Amino acid sequence: MPPARRAADPILPALAERLPAILHLCQRLNAERDLPTLLDLLAREAARLLGAERASIFLLDRERMELETHVALGSEPIRFDARRGAAGAAALRGETVNIRDTRTDTRFYSGVDATLGYRTRNLLAVPLSTHQGEIMGAFEVLNRRRGFFGAEDEELLRALAAQAAVAIETAQLVSELQSHRDRLLTENVQLRKEVHGRFARASILGTSPRIQQLVRIIEQIHDTSVDVLITGESGTGKELVARAIHYSSPRSAAAFVALNCAALPESLIESELFGIERGVATGVERRPGKFEEASRGTLFLDEIGDLSAAAQAKILRVLQERTLERVGGRKPIPVDVRIVAATNKRLESEVERGAFRADLFYRLNVVRIETAPLREIASDIPLLAGHFLARHCREFGRPAKVLGPGALPELVEYPWPGNVRELENEMKRLAVLAPGRVVEPADLSEAIRSRRGAPAGALRRGADEARAEGSPTLPEAVEAIERRMLAEALAASAGNQVRAARALGVSRQGLIKKLKRYDLYRAARRRARPG
Ligand SMILES: Nc1ncnc2c1ncn2[C@@H]1O[C@H](COP(=O)(O)OP(=O)(O)O)[C@@H](O)[C@H]1O
Ligand SMILES: [Mg+2]
Repeated sequence: MPPARRAADPILPALAERLPAILHLCQRLNAERDLPTLLDLLAREAARLLGAERASIFLLDRERMELETHVALGSEPIRFDARRGAAGAAALRGETVNIRDTRTDTRFYSGVDATLGYRTRNLLAVPLSTHQGEIMGAFEVLNRRRGFFGAEDEELLRALAAQAAVAIETAQLVSELQSHRDRLLTENVQLRKEVHGRFARASILGTSPRIQQLVRIIEQIHDTSVDVLITGESGTGKELVARAIHYSSPRSAAAFVALNCAALPESLIESELFGIERGVATGVERRPGKFEEASRGTLFLDEIGDLSAAAQAKILRVLQERTLERVGGRKPIPVDVRIVAATNKRLESEVERGAFRADLFYRLNVVRIETAPLREIASDIPLLAGHFLARHCREFGRPAKVLGPGALPELVEYPWPGNVRELENEMKRLAVLAPGRVVEPADLSEAIRSRRGAPAGALRRGADEARAEGSPTLPEAVEAIERRMLAEALAASAGNQVRAARALGVSRQGLIKKLKRYDLYRAARRRARPG
């Protein structure tokens, strides 16, 4: 049935004349990706095109059976029960509802008017349905400026609603994707920080109470930028701790810059720390100093106890004023660094004897962390040694080795004057030099083996004497290794000689020869044919 044409409308031009405006609106709808802006545009333009006082778009929340609408751009949405009113009928049953007089039409629900302080005289509501025919809400125009809504209006609003549904669906999808992406991004940053932090703390090995306590302090300060002073003997992990502090802190995305204060010649202090402007001397390029390199990050002042008096004064000034000037520069540059300092000296004594400024000491000594000498955390030696041995075998491309039951007590009882660094170096040496898969006491360095009250002379005793105490000769050692490797290869290949030979890098004939030499041949054949 063709829509009944309305007699000449004094306000609205005929539909055909409104067509250019409608097409233009459709174009804008398709370009708009921001849902609130889109809804606002739709409502305003629909009201204009249909000669209505206002228009509303309702989105259906099926789970809660509610309709939601925004009265104005940026306003809080209002929600109401979808089972009531004209918009509800459009959204739930797909009906076109044309109410010419709200006072007499029972389909009208006055609750929304009451909420908004508005008076609806007449209205037209159509469903908003997607391509697939799923209804996502309702499109409603209220109070025609003249008379009431007619068949032509119904047709126009349905056409607009079809366009609107597509645009809304796209905008919803885009916003969903965006919030998804934003969530993933924040999550990613969060996870990275966490992994970084955990990784940093996890790099500190040890289960002894002193190590656990140290890790606990780092955890306690992880969300702050408090300055830290780390003291402890050389090789006890001061720099490791400093890195862990930085990488688990809010500054982890910026740089960790280490400066060895002991290696800082007097003449270079200022340019090293504060940078230098171009042209201070011929050929000098502009160069940032350590403080600037560490901007927003952490400056690790290592061996702080070895700073000269002049350098102490300069650093103190920067820490107090939080600005610095480059060599040859005139304007002060703001400084944003966290200071983590470390020393193997007892700074308190240095202050007492006047070698270290008291004011700088107090400035640095905000949180104090004391690393333990290895001899005081001897229970961690097996763990640390095993870890380093495995790591260095891997790094040198050597087969994995383990510490034998004879070697471990020697390591635990040795006093380790060089602390963890010395232990690590010993494991590095064993990774390369220990002949077997199992490290024996004889493989350990002289210094470690001779520890137990060994007179200095014992270190220089001859080879015969040493062997008399149980060290194997070279042929004995070779035999031991060959026997062990043969047995392991046969075990790994379940007695298959071809595979065992391949694994050992010898021919099958070579393998059989060796098995026979060590009287293993028969045992090997028995193993290959069980039962
Ligand atoms: N608790 C520990 N767990 C793992 N590695 C450690 C530990 N303590 C020290 N190390 C390692 O020992 C070596 C020396 O540590 P380092 O931080 O340079 O000591 P320091 O700065 O006190 O001289 C480094 O390779 C470090 O990774
Ligand atoms: Mg160090």
